[in-house]
Amino acid sequence: MNRRTFLESVGSSGAALATGWWLRRIGYAQASRGPVRAVIRQSRRAEFDRRLFGTFLEHLGRAVYTGVYEPDSALADKNGFRTDVMAEIKGLGVPVIRYPGGNFVSGYNWLDGVGPKKARPTVLERAWNSLEPNQFGTNEFIDWCRMVGTEPLLGFNLGTGTPEMAVAYVEYCNVDKGTKWSDLRRSHGHDQPHNIRYWCLGNEMDGPWQMGTMPAREYGRKARDTARQIRVIDRTLQLIACGSSNTILPTYLVWDREVLEECYDQVDGISLHNYYGNTKELTGENSARFLAMNLDMERQIHEIAAVCDYVQGLRKSPKRLWLSFDEWNVWYRARGGTFADGKRTFAPKLLEEVYNLEDALLVGGFINTLLRESDRVRVACLAQILNVIAPLVTNKTSVLRQSIYYPYAWALQYARGKVLDLVVESETYPISADGLRADVARNDQVPFIDVVATIDPQNGQVCVLMLNRDLDGEREIVLEWRDSTPTRVLACETLTGPDLKAFNTFEQPKHVVPTRLETPRVGSRMTFKLPARSYSVAHIATS
Ligand code: AHR
Repeated sequence: MNRRTFLESVGSSGAALATGWWLRRIGYAQASRGPVRAVIRQSRRAEFDRRLFGTFLEHLGRAVYTGVYEPDSALADKNGFRTDVMAEIKGLGVPVIRYPGGNFVSGYNWLDGVGPKKARPTVLERAWNSLEPNQFGTNEFIDWCRMVGTEPLLGFNLGTGTPEMAVAYVEYCNVDKGTKWSDLRRSHGHDQPHNIRYWCLGNEMDGPWQMGTMPAREYGRKARDTARQIRVIDRTLQLIACGSSNTILPTYLVWDREVLEECYDQVDGISLHNYYGNTKELTGENSARFLAMNLDMERQIHEIAAVCDYVQGLRKSPKRLWLSFDEWNVWYRARGGTFADGKRTFAPKLLEEVYNLEDALLVGGFINTLLRESDRVRVACLAQILNVIAPLVTNKTSVLRQSIYYPYAWALQYARGKVLDLVVESETYPISADGLRADVARNDQVPFIDVVATIDPQNGQVCVLMLNRDLDGEREIVLEWRDSTPTRVLACETLTGPDLKAFNTFEQPKHVVPTRLETPRVGSRMTFKLPARSYSVAHIATS
């Protein structure tokens, strides 16, 4: 076998290489020192769902109040919505936003947040020990979504809430008229139904921290009952069961299996959540290990998909579930303790994580993973969008773009259509299991370069997203085009810098921002020079 046929067979044959089997599964082969080679072939895959680049807005801290909604601000419109925030989110082109929680939803009574604002109660919110005045509720959120051009993904309270109130919520939102709950919506000034298509059947119900947490089979039966009643209203709605909240809970995978054994026939997708950090227990505070964490996300996707397929087989069902990775991000500094305790106040400063360059590089890695796995992952939400573990942060007068804004914005702007099949030959570096938490502890080899590409069938434009995990040196990558010919480079940028811990502030908002990447000569072989510690995008016209 010559080098070329060897390379091209790697993805499917699983040729015996020194790298972990899971790397071969995603199309990677180990190479010795030298430029990385990526062979790009026209995809045989379907178009990925834009919902893969969704995000999340929770009633938490300053996300809604003093973030999205701040009626006293000079920047607010007549609805009380911050116009600068709307402009940023509209500009990003976010396809879908999950709402209203998160842990919040498991104690939320949606009825408190509809109807005349003066009559809405201020309640003690128990997930984050905060005051919730209910001045922003479902109808405000839907209005806001329409204004920023995004689709709402709503969650039910299956913690303290009942199936009956969940079904009433669907009726309130989606039924045209002539029933108790649809007429109530009309009486609130919304004649047209909201027509929400995607719904989450609760949030993290496996978590001991969750209001109303319960054993898997109990939750599975509650989810099934709720879903079955909802299908009476509209059997085409897309319903997402709660999967495991992370990979370290002792119930991981067992929870998913038992839940699905109870409700497989009534649901369309299952959720995955995970947050990552450069901590002693997750990475040994080693940035090279940290930048490989998107491969941990990838493994979680494969494991949960395997459980779905197992239950599909067990149930002899023709239906293949899709995955909703509806909470993912870096989050480890502003976490727990006082960061999570609102001390019974209004709009407290909670979970306000400050993101640095290495976080942004890993967020780029997560985007690569989600694209690579997009034949299985239909929905994914960067958690969250504003102020709380977010790419965007407000003060009284402006919005700051944190470092993680940029890889997310590139995905939204450039990655469209189909994911291309890539076979990549890259030098690798070792990672070690020593001293790490069990779910991330592994001795393995990680490619220095992580690359994905998409093609927009409408116009033939290709987006190539490249993570260089090498902390010390520039790396070359040669893109070899098999079935299409590049004609012009439309954009070529990189996010990099000397200090992995650098971050943006309101005073210094341009500390971590993209810069121009040297544009290679266009041809069937194109060599990009990727700076050390970088995430880069190339947008290329092809014929
Ligand atoms: O996104 C912050 C919190 O993290 C969410 O409320 C919860 O679902 C998760 O544990």
